[in-house]
Amino acid sequence: MGEKMEQWVTQEKVEFYKENGFVQIDNVLTAEELEELRDCANEAMASNSRHSVKTDQDGGAYYKVLNQKVNVWRDHGGMAKYSLHPRLASIAMRLTEASGIRLFHDHLLWKMPGDSKPTPWHQDTVKWPMNETGALSIWVTLDDVDERNGCMMFIPKSHTAGKLKNISLVNPVDIFEYVKGTELENQRPVVVPLKAGSCTFHDGLTFHYAHANQTDKPRRVLATIYMKDGTTYNGASHVMTNDQGLVVGEPIRGPLFPLLAKA
Ligand code: SIN
Ligand code: NI
Repeated sequence: MGEKMEQWVTQEKVEFYKENGFVQIDNVLTAEELEELRDCANEAMASNSRHSVKTDQDGGAYYKVLNQKVNVWRDHGGMAKYSLHPRLASIAMRLTEASGIRLFHDHLLWKMPGDSKPTPWHQDTVKWPMNETGALSIWVTLDDVDERNGCMMFIPKSHTAGKLKNISLVNPVDIFEYVKGTELENQRPVVVPLKAGSCTFHDGLTFHYAHANQTDKPRRVLATIYMKDGTTYNGASHVMTNDQGLVVGEPIRGPLFPLLAKA
């Protein structure tokens, strides 16, 4: 690849991620990559594609929280370049100290002007059909983000809480009810404004939240979910793994879950 990983993810970043369950990495995309990704993402979001699923249609439950399109890499070759990007997957591998990283899925997360609800506090892992923890997301923003248009917040160290309960993004319960009496109950959130082309990585267990978009421009994000190679299937129903011939207790692998980085 010819790129030094240290340039993107220093040992300090690895330590921060391990301790806090999230980390910010600036300028993870070059200016040229950002421009290309914006074009591809706009095209992918607008197209009627075969494999990707848009969740704002059919009265989709996420409406007003965010517009989501899953599996964009399967329909848009330009998006595949970014969802499968070796640099981004290699950063995930370094952060998690895994020996290999596989794709679980990607999604475009748009908060349109008037998407007036925040994405409530939740953990991601509880939705994923995996026995092991350690899966994580990169959240790359295509627009500058702050508290006015949908930047993220994280609760440091909340990945230590373990798997809690699934939280509906539309009718959420308060996640802090589950950690009453622990240090996490009063842990202050870290707000992470970002410049376009920068990103955060967060562990699937880390409590996170995104602000509403109160501006008149879309907030466009590509989030890609990675899992450690060898992560096994727990059989729970999930759109990504149902009917894929996966065996409970065996590693999630195969053409739809490609190996993106290997130590
Ligand atoms: C969002 O971008 O609004 C939410 C992202 C996430 O839940 O990971
Ligand atoms: Ni999430």
